[in-house]
Amino acid sequence: MKIAVVGAGFVGSTTAQQIVEQNLGDVVLHDIVEGMPQGKALDMMHSASLREFESKIVGTNNPADYKDSDIVVVTSGITRKPGMIRDDLVQINSKIVGEVAENIKKYAANAIVIIVTNPLDVMVYTVAQKIGFPKERVMGMSGILDSARFRYYIAAELGVSQHEVSAMVLGGHGDDMLLLVREATVSGISIDQLLPKEKIDKIIERTRKASDEIVKLLGTGSAYYTPAASVARMVKCIVHDEKLVIPISAWCTGQYGIKDLYVGVPAKVGRKGVEQILEIKIAPEELAQLQVSSRHLRETITKFNL
Ligand code: LAC
Repeated sequence: MKIAVVGAGFVGSTTAQQIVEQNLGDVVLHDIVEGMPQGKALDMMHSASLREFESKIVGTNNPADYKDSDIVVVTSGITRKPGMIRDDLVQINSKIVGEVAENIKKYAANAIVIIVTNPLDVMVYTVAQKIGFPKERVMGMSGILDSARFRYYIAAELGVSQHEVSAMVLGGHGDDMLLLVREATVSGISIDQLLPKEKIDKIIERTRKASDEIVKLLGTGSAYYTPAASVARMVKCIVHDEKLVIPISAWCTGQYGIKDLYVGVPAKVGRKGVEQILEIKIAPEELAQLQVSSRHLRETITKFNL
């Protein structure tokens, strides 16, 4: 497998590191800053004997090196500063990912594309429109990250292993994301049987604001360890054709009453990309929230003429 990671900032380089350390394939790490991706790639290669990986990574400033990649991960763009919301990034990042889309189309026309740039669902839409690939080959990393955070807070509150916690976050990757409570379980037991409502509400709030909390703490830049882990997990699903069901930003064609839009939904991910969207029965108020979230995404797309 050849995997191109576009953007060698914190998210891109950490993603690249996790991919090679898990031997998921050989990585091309691209950035426009001269020398930087080459330096990071070389630094990672120096650790191969210690971290015991066989995959190779090279850094480049030339998009032609995406050539024939099986998977392209797009992390390029600016991140939020404290006080900014994800939508503040639309104009600049849509221009950046638009150019990346042209390069992917030119050099890696058969690739599966994973978008990481924020505001996530809107950037996936932008790339998908520009690139013209079948929609199942373009997806966004979103709910898998928010769900990992949700799982962490549930496990921490109950003092149980995170491994046994399963949870799903749907909708746009932003303030109106939808956390499914009834479907959040510890060894198959719904959390609404294990925790009082006030505790669950606190967990929901903390998950929803997790990204803001990190942006504020870091002062500059945003989260990258769990975003990178989330992307690497998606890459693994594709490489090993796992058909794992995970919440990602996928092209909806009427599921949940959402049409012609990328939004966070549970999807089966495998070697072909998004192989199926699972339409589960959710409560009417949850469905309503998912639709509010989608409406917000549609408004942003229209407002910025994407
Ligand atoms: C976050 C950013 C990467 O959720 O969207 O941390």
